[in-house]
Amino acid sequence: MVPDPSQPPLPPGATAAAGFWEARYRARDTGWDIAQAAPPIVEWFSGPDAPPPGQRVLVPGAGRGHDALFLAQRGDRVVAVDFAASALAAIRRRRRALGLAPDRCRTLRADVLRLGERFAGQFDLLVEYTCYCAIDPGDRDAYAAMAAKVLRPGGLLVGLFFPFRTGTPGPPFPVSGPEIRERFAAAFEVETWITPTSSIERRQGEERLVVFRRRG
Ligand SMILES: C[S@@+](CC[C@H](N)C(=O)[O-])C[C@H]1O[C@@H](n2cnc3c(N)ncnc32)[C@H](O)[C@@H]1O
Repeated sequence: MVPDPSQPPLPPGATAAAGFWEARYRARDTGWDIAQAAPPIVEWFSGPDAPPPGQRVLVPGAGRGHDALFLAQRGDRVVAVDFAASALAAIRRRRRALGLAPDRCRTLRADVLRLGERFAGQFDLLVEYTCYCAIDPGDRDAYAAMAAKVLRPGGLLVGLFFPFRTGTPGPPFPVSGPEIRERFAAAFEVETWITPTSSIERRQGEERLVVFRRRG
């Protein structure tokens, strides 16, 4: 997902197609995959503000599940959602290798924008990393609505938002502070907003660790 200026922008809506992502996994063309849980997420969950293990966690656009499996290992009950079957298969393989029971990290093949009704109020946490920047920006309101719907009142959206930059085509589609604050303001209060220093080197300065609390 490192932008390649020699590539023409994708046609509108291309990234909304499950086939686009599945093809990338099959071709192992997955430059976004950092092969580990994102360090700022690990750091936040090791800190004083993190809720105790045992949370019901949704990880949308989980990819190969590095963050989802980190949370499952922490002791949470995770649902990892993606619409790329190959990504979910990778999660299940890794889950087995880690000796985790399936219910510690369930995999669900679904469109993250359509989870609201099915999971209304069922999660304590939603952990976001590089799903928001992967969906078409025109779908971001639907993403925020989904997050508001699936979280119980008082639940947390822990998001490592990326990439804070301008002028590049997507994916990853650039994000900005005002855009994120405005979009989530109706249903969430900001609890934390920091520029982490633990981002991997090539994403230094381009990420913000944001914790939103779902209003009651
Ligand atoms: C850039 S990748 C990030 C994957 C993972 N979060 C990571 O950091 O490695 C975006 C992921 O979101 C998934 N995705 C994008 N739009 C989606 C949607 N509408 N519903 C479900 N999955 C989606 C893609 O299949 C892909 O696995």
